[in-house]
Amino acid sequence: MAIWHYLSQFCREPRTIGAIAPSSKQLAARMIEPIDFKRARVIVEYGPGCGVFTRHVLERIDRDRTIFFGLELNEKMNRLVMEKTPDAVIYQDSAAAVKKYLRQYGVKHADAIISGLPWASFSESLQDEILSETVSGLKKNGIFTTFAYLHGLVLPSGKRFRQKLLKYFSKVEASPVVWENLPPALVYWCRK
Ligand SMILES: C[S@@+](CC[C@H](N)C(=O)[O-])C[C@H]1O[C@@H](n2cnc3c(N)ncnc32)[C@H](O)[C@@H]1O
Repeated sequence: MAIWHYLSQFCREPRTIGAIAPSSKQLAARMIEPIDFKRARVIVEYGPGCGVFTRHVLERIDRDRTIFFGLELNEKMNRLVMEKTPDAVIYQDSAAAVKKYLRQYGVKHADAIISGLPWASFSESLQDEILSETVSGLKKNGIFTTFAYLHGLVLPSGKRFRQKLLKYFSKVEASPVVWENLPPALVYWCRK
């Protein structure tokens, strides 16, 4: 079962997994809410884990017109997401390599990037590396979405991360709190 797989990976690698349970479908809905699926030609997902967000994107895209791929660093999670969502293309690599994969598809920019990455467990330099590659891999006015757990928002690291988003993006909005998630979370909707 995905939850056991998830928990065992969390116990082995808490810093890269960063969450005790997969995200809920309500959080997934907020993550993809600002994406214009009729127009988006390139969508990327960071850290798909067991594929909750991946499935929501796959349900909404026209696969003949839209390029969609994920970047998942953990080998076991990578295998799990490919089992759960065999239709998805997931590469085992870091989100920091996003531009290399965009180039493989012959494109420079994505319309939307959604992230399940555990930012709170990353060093500031890794946060900066991934955010700067993200901004340069996004189209002008492209959308980047990422979530934060409610309890982390009041911590200095949570406040610092929000400030960082404001530094990298021209507009950052927060969704309403998604209480139907363990733990409750909100989504940052960030425009390049
Ligand atoms: C909190 S889980 C999120 C899983 C799923 N998106 C969800 O919300 O249920 C974080 C995922 O990010 C992956 N990850 C961590 N660092 C990464 C990196 N630098 N690049 C890509 N994936 C990474 C982990 O292996 C893990 O699967």
